[in-house]
Order: sequence, then C-alpha cells, then structure tokens
Amino acid sequence: MEGPVKAIILGYGIRGRAYAAYANTHPDEFEIAGLADPVAEFPADAKYPTWKSWEAALDAGVDADAVIISLPDRLHYPSCVKALGKGYHVLLEKPIGCTWGECLAIKKAQIEAKKLVLTGYVLRFAPFYKKLREVVSSGCIGELTSVHHLAAISYGKAAHAYCRGNWSVEAKGTGMLVNKCTHDFDLIEWWTKGKSIKKISSFGSLMHWRPENRPEGAADRCMDCPARVRDNCPFDAYKVYYERTDLRYHFADESDAAILKMIETSPYGRCVYACGNDSVDHQTVLMEYEGGLTIILEMESYSQQRTRITHFYGTRGEIIADEHKIEILPFLGDSTTIIPAQHGHHGGGDREIMTEFVKIIRMNPDPSRYTKILEAALESHRIAFLAEESRRTGTTIGGSSK
Ligand SMILES: NC(=O)c1ccc[n+]([C@@H]2O[C@H](COP(=O)([O-])OP(=O)(O)OC[C@H]3O[C@@H](n4cnc5c(N)ncnc54)[C@H](O)[C@@H]3O)[C@@H](O)[C@H]2O)c1
Repeated sequence: MEGPVKAIILGYGIRGRAYAAYANTHPDEFEIAGLADPVAEFPADAKYPTWKSWEAALDAGVDADAVIISLPDRLHYPSCVKALGKGYHVLLEKPIGCTWGECLAIKKAQIEAKKLVLTGYVLRFAPFYKKLREVVSSGCIGELTSVHHLAAISYGKAAHAYCRGNWSVEAKGTGMLVNKCTHDFDLIEWWTKGKSIKKISSFGSLMHWRPENRPEGAADRCMDCPARVRDNCPFDAYKVYYERTDLRYHFADESDAAILKMIETSPYGRCVYACGNDSVDHQTVLMEYEGGLTIILEMESYSQQRTRITHFYGTRGEIIADEHKIEILPFLGDSTTIIPAQHGHHGGGDREIMTEFVKIIRMNPDPSRYTKILEAALESHRIAFLAEESRRTGTTIGGSSK
C-alpha cells in the first residue's frame, strides 16, 4: 500500500499518547485519522476529527486503515469486535479481553473479518527481549530445566495502579495477574516454544493494603494525614508523586501545581488503607511443562525497583537477565555479558511495535497469518486465566492442549 497507515486512536490516555507520538517521529509510516476520548485534551493543532466516545469514532465512517484501542480494559472487547466489523485492522492494548470468553469472541470476530489484531505486547518487540530470546533459544546452556521470573512492580507504581487506581477492584477489569503479567506469560511462551504446559498452580492475596493495617490516626486522604503518621508512610501520595517524579508520566499535566492539585482532589491522593481495593498485591504461579521444565513467575508489589529479573537454569549453565544486561554463565568455558542497546519507553518496545504494526498492514499477508498472530498472543491469556482459576479455587489446573 502507498502512503502512511491511517489509524483512529480510541482512548487518548498514557498509551494512546504513546502510540500517537509515532505519527510525529515517523510521518511517512503513520498518520492519525482521529482521536476519541471523553476527557482528554486533544492537540490544539489537530487536523483530524475528534470524538467524545469510541462508539462515535467507529460510527463516523472515517477513511482509515486501522484502529488503535488504548481504552480501559473493560472496553477492549466491545470496541475490538466493532472495529473488526467495520473492516479496520486493530492494535489492541492488553488485556485482549477481561475474560477468556471475551478473548475467544475476539478471535471469532478476527477470523470473520480477516483483519490484523496485534496485541500491545511491547516487550516482545523490545530489543532487550528479542536478544534474550535469541540467547535462550541458542541452546548455549543446554536443555532448560527451570526458569525463575520476577515481575517486580515497585511499591509506588503498584500503589498507583492496583491500590488507588484503575486496577484496584478485580471485578472492574481483569485482576492484577492478567493485567500486569500477560506480558510475562507472553515472554514465557517464547522461551518455552514448542513445549506444552501440563499443570498450573497459583497462590496470592492482598496482604497489606487493607483497612486493618491502617495506622492509627491516618486520614482518608494523604494531605489531611497528621505529620507523625504521614512521615512514616512510604505510600504517602506526596512522597510518591511530588517528591519523586518518576510516576508523573501517568498524568497529562506533570507540573508541580497540577500534581499537587491531583494529590488533593483525585483518587490518587487517597490513603492506601482506605481505597476499597481488593486486587492481590503479590502472586506466584508455578508451571510444569512437558519434559519436566518448571517455571516460577513471581509478581510483587513491594519492591524498591520496577524491573523484571529472570534466571534460567539449563543442563550446561545459567542465564541471568535483568532488563539491562544478559549474563551467560556456562559450566564449561568463559562467561559473557551482553548489554543490548535500548532507548525509548518500554526499552524501545513502544516504537518497535508501531513499526511492526505498520509493516504487517503494508505487507497485506494471507489472512491466515493474521489469525496465527492473534492465536500466539492468546496463549499467554489462556495460561493467565488458568492461573487465576487455580488461585481462586485452590487447585492445580491441567494446562490441556493449545
Ligand atoms: N502494553 C503495555 O505495556 C501497557 C501499559 C499500560 C497500560 N496498558 C493498557 O492500555 C490500556 C490503557 O491504559 P492507560 O494506562 O493508557 O490508561 P489511561 O486511563 O491513561 O487511558 C485510557 C483513556 O481512555 C479514555 N476513555 C475512557 N472511556 C472512554 C470511552 N468511552 N471512549 C473513548 N475513550 C475513553 C479515558 O478518558 C483515558 O484517557 C489499558 O487497557 C491498559 O491495561 C498497556
């Protein structure tokens, strides 16, 4: 196809803005055909239509090739099915659906529409994880026997998303494991390619951000909290958003004045012990694969750093990866450390996924290729939903066939 791929962006929050930025850096590849969001401030110089809802955008009959869905989780399923029905290709943020049933309905709609549904698995496209995959699949540590994978969220980010924010109440979305760790299950799917999963067990709970752990005298909002309580609270919104600045990217206006106002008035200024949250704050998943390979995935809120650390054990050595470097430690021969070049958000994954999205649409492959792309992405969701079933029922679940 000639010219840039034209896409309507549904949901102009953090993710929507990240994808929109590609139009500025790669105008020959990607053009915004419209933006939909009920509250966001749209660019003042926008030369495309804007709408207040995703439905209005899809009903407008705009000339576009694709739709990018960066809406809240619960809107992924209805908007994706409708966009496919209108004949658009879709870049769909994860989670694909809030239930396995919604995921399967999206698969059915994709097969009928014969269009691309690319899932927002930005890590899959990040140079670091591409390199790690290459190293793991090279066989340099023999046959994999076990993998220990930690998804450490950091106490500030976890409080933001899973205690005070969008994913604090499980019934409103997918639960923390599906929301956060479908990325990790997707990476695991890569590393175990060709092996089927036999059994899954999962344990997890909300241990700490509960009303009974609220310090004596704590107020409902951090700014009203007595100094003697607040000074001793690491989750104090003023410390998390004002003194530290690394979480400010969650807000359209990152200025000091706007952040202070946000702490005073928004849900993000609430006491973490008074948020009505029920999301787990930590969870472990144990998986057994055909041939005996075992994998542990640990999702943890209470970490200092936001990172992922993976330790691979094989019959001839180990690999340790920490999102910065990959250390290969063979039992025979010298150790090697690889530091893949990375720049941009999600280690470059935000940019690379857009490059891939545009490339696939322009390639216009056989529709069966589109189905394979979605099927590969769905496997991580299938496993994540099975893990949730295990946690909720207290049983070990058979992985069954793909
Ligand atoms: N791939 C990743 O690594 C990654 C990272 C973060 C979030 N996500 C996913 O991306 C999605 C969006 O997350 P976010 O962090 O950008 O959230 P966000 O809250 O910043 O953005 C969502 C936007 O959707 C808008 N919206 C709500 N209802 C709407 C409607 N009816 N019509 C149009 N717009 C509507 C909201 O006003 C908001 O601006 C979520 O599903 C999340 O799970 C993915």
